[in-house]
Amino acid sequence: MRQRACASTLAPWLTRIVPGLTLGLGLVLTSCRVGPPPVTPAVVAFARASWPQATPWSLEQGRELFMERCARCHGLPRPASQAPRAWPALVDNMGNRAGMTREEKSVVLQYLAAASKAALEPDPTLEPDPSSPRPETETESSGY
Ligand code: HEC
Repeated sequence: MRQRACASTLAPWLTRIVPGLTLGLGLVLTSCRVGPPPVTPAVVAFARASWPQATPWSLEQGRELFMERCARCHGLPRPASQAPRAWPALVDNMGNRAGMTREEKSVVLQYLAAASKAALEPDPTLEPDPSSPRPETETESSGY
């Protein structure tokens, strides 16, 4: 399943033509890299929305702990295999089985929930869609 050819050359034009493919391509691209999805600016932004103290560094720690501790009994799950809101209970349960401390569970949860959101929801660090109406236009205001 993880041995698929990299689709990086196809990604730019395909995602432009069929926006719905973005998620699927993202998953294929993810399988080209070693390990779980990296800590991108989108992951940091999603994590900070729920945990203001999260940093790129703390999230990278969570990602590494996740790789070290969560692949002992089964394959490493993809963050997006669970909805963001499903991760807290799962990490608590699985973290206990992995013998993790509360602090370790917390950083792993922050990485997993944010990486899941980053895979499933629009990137909060990107500019708004230019085709959507602008929030304010001083010159075109028609005075109503
Ligand atoms: C001691 C063994 C063990 C460790 C360590 C472990 N798991 Fe699991 N995990 C299991 C077993 C067994 C299952 C099968 C479902 C069950 O028993 O609840 C499972 C299932 C899962 C599932 C699927 C749950 C579902 O409902 O589809 C996820 C996701 C998961 N584990 C994530 C993790 C994460 C994240 C970690 C690290 C924090 C982790 N696991 C560490 C034993 C482990």
